[in-house]
Amino acid sequence: MQEQISALRSELKAAIDAAADLTALEDIRVAALGKKGSVSALMKGLGGMSADERKEMGPALNSLKNDVTDALAARKENLEDAALEARLVSERVDVTLPVREHVSGNIHPNSQVMDEIAEIFARLGFDVAEGPDLESDFHNFSALNIPELHPARQMQDTFYLRPDENGERKVLRTHTSPVQIRTMLSKEPPIRIIAPGRTYRSDWDATHTPMFHQVEGLVIDRDTHLGHLKGTLEAFLKAFFEVDHVTLRLRPSYFPFTEPSMEVDVQCAFTDTGVKIGDGNDWLEILGSGMVHPNVLRACNLDPNEYQGFAFGCGIDRLAMLKYGMNDLRSFFDSDLRWLKHYGFAALDLPTIAGGLSK
Ligand code: PHE
Repeated sequence: MQEQISALRSELKAAIDAAADLTALEDIRVAALGKKGSVSALMKGLGGMSADERKEMGPALNSLKNDVTDALAARKENLEDAALEARLVSERVDVTLPVREHVSGNIHPNSQVMDEIAEIFARLGFDVAEGPDLESDFHNFSALNIPELHPARQMQDTFYLRPDENGERKVLRTHTSPVQIRTMLSKEPPIRIIAPGRTYRSDWDATHTPMFHQVEGLVIDRDTHLGHLKGTLEAFLKAFFEVDHVTLRLRPSYFPFTEPSMEVDVQCAFTDTGVKIGDGNDWLEILGSGMVHPNVLRACNLDPNEYQGFAFGCGIDRLAMLKYGMNDLRSFFDSDLRWLKHYGFAALDLPTIAGGLSK
């Protein structure tokens, strides 16, 4: 009997080691340990044995059963590992791209300037907000305290779309100020955002194109005041023009959505090669700003007795022209490869305060 057991043990072990796949292995398991299996048949024989024989054969048969079970489990794990390995090899995906030696694209000065602005304001704790180019009359005008028939509607040469089925006439946003409204309607103060993006007005000369870019700034809190506006603009312009100091002149102005309203000029010197920002005898107007009008706060469900803040809007293209010395805005959007190569920026040099904004 012992011999029979050890013969069966080696026979089964050899078969298990030779099993080519999981199905073959399962067949071996059934043939050995299944109800009618060879090991089970021997176990059944225990019933007809004397007590002494059973004492000897019981443990021997149990150990056979355990050995076979262990061998089956080990082989199963082996086969599964091999199957996984084979699958990994056959399903391999190469996610790498070979380095291209001649990269010809580069970053448009406008995108570069937007990245620079976002980097500077991120440092000052501002988030970037966005809104659609196609705006409702509400966001672009009425909520900004520009009611219908208000003369301020004529301040901007608006592109109107045909009325939709509800009679609503959308506009191509004439400024980024509607993002102020969208932000105040969707966020609780304190609010600190900039909103860079495309804007549209019917205009065309050396410094005006029908599509141009602005960046809006908005800060709303309980006691935000004019000093914060001036400090923010100074910090921004110093960082942007990469100079140690700037002198600003706040000139009283009018915007329906701010009160008081100011246009901001920066001191500069016009030279033969362009402008130098910082010192000099000249002034350059660069942005519009003011304290958010109480009517605008009310339109956004904010209580003017509780909250106040400032806003500014600045032409991005104009900033790019000043900083990088281009004199005709129209060439920005001509897609002339020679211009783009000359004024573009290397794609991998992202502007950072630490590494330099404009290497
Ligand atoms: N939206 C104004 C413009 O396009 C600029 C502005 C923004 C002025 C925010 C004041 C406050 O001329």
